Amino acid sequence: MAAAKALIASAPEFQAALLGWYRAHRRRLPWREEPSLYKTVVSEFMLQQTQVKTMLPYFARWLDALPGFPSLAAASEEEVVKLWEGLGYYTRARNLHKLARALVALPEMPRTRDAWLELPGIGPYTSAAITSIAFGAPAAVVDGNVVRILARLAADGTAWRDTTSAGKDLTPLADALLNHAEPGDHNQAMMELGATVCTRHNPLCTVCPVRAFCAACRAGEPEAYPKLAAKVIEARTVVRAWCRRATDGALLLHKTDSSARRLAGQHELPSAEHLGLDPSALARKDTLLATKKRGITRFSFTEPIHALEPAGLPRPISTGLVWVAPAELDGVLMSGPHRRWVRELIARA
Ligand code: ADE
Repeated sequence: MAAAKALIASAPEFQAALLGWYRAHRRRLPWREEPSLYKTVVSEFMLQQTQVKTMLPYFARWLDALPGFPSLAAASEEEVVKLWEGLGYYTRARNLHKLARALVALPEMPRTRDAWLELPGIGPYTSAAITSIAFGAPAAVVDGNVVRILARLAADGTAWRDTTSAGKDLTPLADALLNHAEPGDHNQAMMELGATVCTRHNPLCTVCPVRAFCAACRAGEPEAYPKLAAKVIEARTVVRAWCRRATDGALLLHKTDSSARRLAGQHELPSAEHLGLDPSALARKDTLLATKKRGITRFSFTEPIHALEPAGLPRPISTGLVWVAPAELDGVLMSGPHRRWVRELIARA
């Protein structure tokens, strides 16, 4: 690819333009202003599937409750997952917990990318981000933001199946552009550029510090890259019940088994399946309270919530169903969407 070659030939100028911009314009974020290995690790775990502005309050709360690896390692899994509540993708919280336990058992902190790759919950992205930022290791980060920037810089028209396969193809270019004197700031600058300037839609090319190096910008079509296959989205409907006990106002919830891979220990409004009811029997027109929509991975969920009288429950009620008193609702583990739905429907009652 001619554009990629020319870009690599001007790597020093590219790096200088990027770093100068980052140092002047970077967002003042808590793990950047007073950095520590612990803050870097926690922020990189939280930022894997979540945007900066969403995770900031979680990050502050987390640092207050668990200020370092020893306190995190000593915490119970329940406490760790509860602190993560609302961020989603809870495997990240469990992996972070396992990582802290592994690190405190070591005689000293590993400093190389290869050593970090041996640790639980650490993959190509986290190992590069953590070791470059905390130890200056020469490891280029390749995440979705970086893929987008590189594909545009090189005007790489490859039709990729997904971001992961694009990332694999673009890793040599990321490595060739890495600033070995400042790998941590270089990586953060790439991610920052992707988050704030080289955005998926309407990129701000006029203020881009590296537009002089960008083949897609020169061609006037930055949004044409990267070429990623459209995700196949599957529509699913889950009918859920809103069932309260008359005597004490307790709400019926389904608690996922704590050994489950997904949603372990999480409470949610029970679905018709959880209740042992036919969805069409639960989904009567006159009992509809709300219809919620959300996307999870490649599924688009529609979740109608229907009022159900306790008398309409099959007996005995299925295992996994629990009655939770109103005063105890805040204390149980619940995903962000279910927490919002429950608050909304309780306020309406
Ligand atoms: N996304 C993930 N990690 C990041 C970081 N350190 N800076 C900016 N965006 C990020």
